[in-house]
Amino acid sequence: MKLLIKNGRVVDPSQQLDAICDILAEDGKIVKIGKDLPDQAEEIYDATGKIVAPGFIDMHTHLREPGLEAKESIRTGTMAAAAGGITTIACMPNTKPAISTSIVVSGIKERAAREGYVNVEVIGSISKDEAGKELSEMGDMLEKGAVAFSDDGHYVDSSRLLMNAAKYMTSFDAPLVSHSIESELNADGYMHEGAVSAKMGVPGVPSVAEDIAVARDVLVAGYTGARVHIAHVASKGAVDIIRQAKAKGYPVTAEATVHHLTLTDEACLGYSTATRVSPPLRSRDHVDALRAGLLDGTIDIIVTDHAPHAPEEKDVEFRKAPNGFCGLETSVGVVLTDLYHTGVLTLGQVVEKMSCRPAEIFQLKGGKLAEGAPADITILDLEKEWTVDSKKFYTIGKVTPFEGKKCKGKAVAAVVAGRIVMKDGELCKK
Ligand code: DOR
Repeated sequence: MKLLIKNGRVVDPSQQLDAICDILAEDGKIVKIGKDLPDQAEEIYDATGKIVAPGFIDMHTHLREPGLEAKESIRTGTMAAAAGGITTIACMPNTKPAISTSIVVSGIKERAAREGYVNVEVIGSISKDEAGKELSEMGDMLEKGAVAFSDDGHYVDSSRLLMNAAKYMTSFDAPLVSHSIESELNADGYMHEGAVSAKMGVPGVPSVAEDIAVARDVLVAGYTGARVHIAHVASKGAVDIIRQAKAKGYPVTAEATVHHLTLTDEACLGYSTATRVSPPLRSRDHVDALRAGLLDGTIDIIVTDHAPHAPEEKDVEFRKAPNGFCGLETSVGVVLTDLYHTGVLTLGQVVEKMSCRPAEIFQLKGGKLAEGAPADITILDLEKEWTVDSKKFYTIGKVTPFEGKKCKGKAVAAVVAGRIVMKDGELCKK
């Protein structure tokens, strides 16, 4: 099967590529990139006026399967990813059972290959069942294709356990993904502690809960030499600590979510459960520090932390709602609207943070447009105006803090292994 993408502006900073040209894919791989390639393919996509980028990669998705399919499944989550223009996702292990064993890793990969619309990478848990007591089958999970380990949803409270995991990983070079929020300080709050929480009369979580947790985990990286990737950085203190750790040469990388980069805690003022998330949405000074970190390379990548819940679970009062909301179908549009069109990031930086760099950090084959690379491609229309409407989402957990947002810029096609899986927002038959 041959696919020819014609006349697009091909943008890939990893290959120093920004030019109008064509891409030919065959049998799942890119076979040629060049000008005026002959029209010899079963399928031809005219990308005139569009951006052709390496497939976007989201390294922080909750697919909820196995066990929590009332919130999401491999099928619905990958449909949401394709609809949002994301061609690879990595699923987090806080499922039921947790992803702690090689058999669960294999099961997810097999089901994803059969039912998934996009590529699925698996992040196994650091501790068995994410219970924080003993290490999971990390080596066996790596053998079955896990790319990283995390107890996402929880901090690894035991420093001894984290040190053991880190020492173990030095022989494998897979990153530990740290959900860095100190558990005791996190326990009593429902949002960011500050002027807005005081005004709302809602107990807050102090941002220092994040700083403390990040500090320990980057120190463990520095001491052991194991790679530590800090998940969903949201505090200015954490940005500073990561910056210092990188300056010292510690093997640390970091991500920020679309919502932490674009929303403040003022979004919580209406007590909407669509704004409940962990770490919480923070005040403007934290958002500004995150953006500065994104620009100077302290924050390596942008993720969604797509964390869907069943609609009825979110349809409760503010304090009772679970943390998290969907993100796969809004991330590209919100980033283009609030970070690209406002001049915070260049287009090259968007592609780097949402495709090239995630592939580098997690040692994936995608994230680049080069001959021989997987034909995973995201096509963007930078000018397309649209409004976020969760009724149109494929995800089960439709709650989003971006409901009704007017966006400029959208992924208009997604190609996975040389097959168009989404065109103009519609999914193509599996
Ligand atoms: O808000 C969140 N929800 N943050 C997390 O880290 C976990 C996630 C979930 O699993 O629902």
